[in-house]
Amino acid sequence: MSSGKFLETLAGTRFPTPPIWLMRQAGRYLPEYRAVRATTKSFLDFCYTPEKAVEATLQPIRRFGLDAAIIFSDILVVPDALGQKVWFEEGEGPKLDALTDPVQFGQLSRARLTGYLAPVYSAISATRKALPADTALLGFAGAPFTLACYMIEGGGSKDFAKVKLWAYRHPDSFALLIDLLVDAIVDHLANQVDAGADAVQLFDSWAGILPEEQLFGWSLEPMVRIAHGLRARHPKVPIIAFPRAVGPAALMYRRPDAFTALSVDTGIGAHWAAQNLQPHICLQGNLDPIMLVAGGPALEREATRILDKLGHGSFVFNLGHGVVPQTPPEHVAQLVEIVRNWKPSV
Ligand code: CP3
Repeated sequence: MSSGKFLETLAGTRFPTPPIWLMRQAGRYLPEYRAVRATTKSFLDFCYTPEKAVEATLQPIRRFGLDAAIIFSDILVVPDALGQKVWFEEGEGPKLDALTDPVQFGQLSRARLTGYLAPVYSAISATRKALPADTALLGFAGAPFTLACYMIEGGGSKDFAKVKLWAYRHPDSFALLIDLLVDAIVDHLANQVDAGADAVQLFDSWAGILPEEQLFGWSLEPMVRIAHGLRARHPKVPIIAFPRAVGPAALMYRRPDAFTALSVDTGIGAHWAAQNLQPHICLQGNLDPIMLVAGGPALEREATRILDKLGHGSFVFNLGHGVVPQTPPEHVAQLVEIVRNWKPSV
């Protein structure tokens, strides 16, 4: 069993300074990532080669000594494992053979998920062995709504009209897809914990495109079902929910029965979060990833402002979204210094 500042914070212990890790802390902004990535053409093949996934996971830990690692993989391995074709085009992001008819849901099968994603689980076991005992290892999955967005749009989208129209016009058939994803994600997360993940994060990156009423049914409720399903298999595993860009509807996600922590994006004010969310649930966030590109005094001021607002309560320092490719790695080192040297002004 591993422990350390990150897991102890999630369990309710308070430290003089909060733990820190960053969403998308592995990836293209690191030259050592670009070097190992260049050895495999396809991004998914890279994810499914355990030695390479382990190496990419460890790179930011070696460089910055962050409090948690996140397994190098992608949220789209789940649709891939269910039998939908997924590929990545250079400079264009993910592409999928879009679902256009509910009949196609029936062709997706959860039966082979565990075998298909075995390389991800091997990478987790090997990473857990390689990490220092006090560095936590996070597993993760995309939440059902975000996966449904990619599966129905066939990739990213400007307005997500296809997925919304499906959900608004045919809620019964949309619910079948969401149900299938809930079950598949519980399997995938439980397998990651079996393999050695110490905690998990659920990314609902596109939750914020839904009106509040739909947010409840298509984002929150499926995420709560996943949390309960996972806890039935792993009663103690910490679960972090990241419903991105939901604004004040973040209040709905204060669900300590389901989530251990709530990851808040940059659009949520640290002061509002400290008053309205933090008394109820541990928070994670929420520095603007572009502040990390800016570096220097701007980064120092903004990181310190967030620490002054949220660092007195239950808190994990992170970004409001992922590290972007143009981030200078030295700025990540600067941020870790700022967080570790922060002095609470009481
Ligand atoms: O360090 C880490 O955070 C671990 C790895 C990780 C990746 N993707 C690697 C990746 C994680 C946690 C993800 C999650 C993910 N993937 C999300 C949720 C978080 C978010 O950003 O909202 C989403 C929506 C995806 C889907 C996805 N994968 C997109 C939209 C893209 C293309 C955009 C881009 O940044 O290029 C990917 C590709 C991807 N996933 C890359 C990496 C490092 C870049 C591809 C490459 O290196 O060749």
